[in-house]
Formats: sequence, structure tokens, C-alpha cells
Amino acid sequence: MDLEVQKTADGSDTVLNKSIGVHYHSTNGAITEAEHVFITAGLNHFSQSDIAILEVGLGTGLNAALTAMHADEKGLKVSYVGLELYPLNTEFVGKIGYQKQLPSAAATAWNAISNAPWNAEFALGTNFTMTKQQADFTCWVSNQQFNLIYFDAFAPDCQPEMWAPEQFKKLYAMLKHGGVLVTYSAKGIVKQALRDAGFTVKRLPGPPGKHHMLKAIKEVAAH
Ligand SMILES: C[S@@+](CC[C@H](N)C(=O)[O-])C[C@H]1O[C@@H](n2cnc3c(N)ncnc32)[C@H](O)[C@@H]1O
Repeated sequence: MDLEVQKTADGSDTVLNKSIGVHYHSTNGAITEAEHVFITAGLNHFSQSDIAILEVGLGTGLNAALTAMHADEKGLKVSYVGLELYPLNTEFVGKIGYQKQLPSAAATAWNAISNAPWNAEFALGTNFTMTKQQADFTCWVSNQQFNLIYFDAFAPDCQPEMWAPEQFKKLYAMLKHGGVLVTYSAKGIVKQALRDAGFTVKRLPGPPGKHHMLKAIKEVAAH
């Protein structure tokens, strides 16, 4: 893969995959986007203490590190599975500046996550456990049940197979009733695929540079 670290508008880094011309985060602000889409609309939905989170597209680990910090602040106990088909190598991760760009608790978490082994559970403190799972999401199956899904695949135009209706049906089945899926994309086909899978879909204001994002809920009383 031909990758390059780039600065985004809020001063935080992201990664450009030059082979396919897509960024790992919004160029309008990587940390800003992660906070807005995944923490504010996703993690902050929950006040219960035990939450299982699935991230589709772990990438740099930025969303995971912010989650570890905020979960700790909120007193939440979290188990986190981060799925990634193409793990970044250690040398490349060393070029990403989150160590300096994140608040110190998130920077510490990011460092630990970056150095953790793949495909084995590890702990950050007493309330956060995580597995970095190397797998192809499109054919990944699991009988685990999650409360919260961070859907952070590359854009639908770039990787339509990740956003296919059957993938959202699979995720719906993996979500507990009352659970939530959040994603930065608000495209019509994504909304429709989520609705067809059974979700109640809400369009929320997006992070800088994007009008909207989506929050999809598996209703408590759903069939
Ligand atoms: C938008 S980036 C995710 C950014 C990430 N959440 C972060 O905080 O840095 C999309 C990620 O999906 C990964 N990916 C692409 N195809 C995949 C697949 N079939 N299964 C799992 N991950 C995949 C990419 O390698 C990339 O890391």
C-alpha cells in the first residue's frame, strides 16, 4: 500500500491511501470528526456501565484511543473489537503525530493500542479491554453481540462492498436491542440499506465539511 501522513484542518494527522486516493479521516479535521461522529453521537448515547463496541475499519486506532479516554472519564467499562484487513506497520505508525496531538490520556491509550499484538485480547487499565482483529469485514462472521458499532469504512463510492445491504443485515444481527450504529456517511443508499436491515435511521448534523452523518438504532421492541 502506498500511504502518506497528511495534516488536516484541525492540526491533527490523517493517512492518505495514495493507491486509491482516499483519506482515513476527514481532511477538515481528523480528531474533530472522530469526536463528533463516534464519541458524541455514539459513545455518549450510553450511560450503562458495560458496553461492547465493534469498529469496522480500525485504521490508525484514533477512534479507539479517544473511546478509551472518554470511557474512562465517564466510568464506563468497555470491551472493544477493532476490525482491520490491512494493519499499518509499526514504522509507518511512528510517522503519525497523535502522540502530540491528542490529550495526554488518549495519547497514552493510542500508544498502547498501536503497540498491542493483533488477534489477542489486551487491557488498558481495569475497565477497557480490546482485540485488534485482522479480518476481512465483508466475509467476517461472529456470534458476539455489541451495543455500539462504529462503521468507519472507506466511502461507499470507493468500497461499495463494505456498505452492501447484506453487510448491514449482518451488523443488525450482531447488535443488541437498544444498540446503535454510527457512521460519517449520510448517502441515500446507505440510509436505505440501514432501513432495509431493520434500523431506525436518524440524520444528524455532520462534522465540519459535512452536512450530515447517520445514527442507526436497533429499537428495543424490534422483531
Ligand atoms: C476510513 S479508514 C478507518 C479509519 C480509522 N477508523 C481510524 O481511526 O484511523 C477505513 C479502514 O478500513 C480498512 N479496510 C478496508 N477494507 C477492509 C475490509 N474488507 N475489512 C476490514 N477493514 C477494511 C482500511 O484499511 C482502513 O484502515
